[in-house]
Amino acid sequence: MGDYRIREHPILPVEERPEFEFYWQGQAMRAREGETIASALFAGGVRIFGHHHKDGAPQGIFCANGQCAQCLVMADGLPVKACMTPVQPGMRVEPMDGLPTLPDVHTVPEMRAIETVEVECLIIGGGPAGLSAAIELGKAGVRTLIVDDKHRRGGKLVLQTHKFFGSIDACYAGTRGIDIATKLEQEVRQFENVQVWLNTTALAVFSDRKVGVLREGR
Ligand code: FES
Repeated sequence: MGDYRIREHPILPVEERPEFEFYWQGQAMRAREGETIASALFAGGVRIFGHHHKDGAPQGIFCANGQCAQCLVMADGLPVKACMTPVQPGMRVEPMDGLPTLPDVHTVPEMRAIETVEVECLIIGGGPAGLSAAIELGKAGVRTLIVDDKHRRGGKLVLQTHKFFGSIDACYAGTRGIDIATKLEQEVRQFENVQVWLNTTALAVFSDRKVGVLREGR
């Protein structure tokens, strides 16, 4: 293992943040507040996070955006996507070699009352398409809710530091993807009729026009 942490970036600011210790295969490693398990492992020189259960192929970061599950690791006994899960002080992270085994649970977990929220329009996914749709619905005065499983709006735009090309009016040509995400986010914020729930996963869409969502893991 070594020190592969990025300390300067030609485009993005790299903030100094408090550091803490976590464990990879029982060995202490350093992480910075707010970074994901994958970032902390990469900064420490770990590239292989486990091996595929079928052919033993090495697994690690592929999409870096929560879509592919190639970065699965066991964190404090639970399987999680390393590229999406913030690392915590003292967290014990193990490689995912083969299929995960869930811990034995001997009690029924306590469930909270299920809240029902009615909206005229529900948008699943706060990426460029979802945010653009929300802006139009906002202008039209439609009560809209966006749910997104990430911690910030913008979808894949937040991974894109390159400048877009094409038409300035149609697709923000000349602006970096991450800055387009900020512009769309600011535009959406102007509309009181558009609500956004982040860290919220849509679990099921039912035929009676109901959608089950898990908000902030509850
Ligand atoms: S790298 Fe694809 S989900 Fe993490």
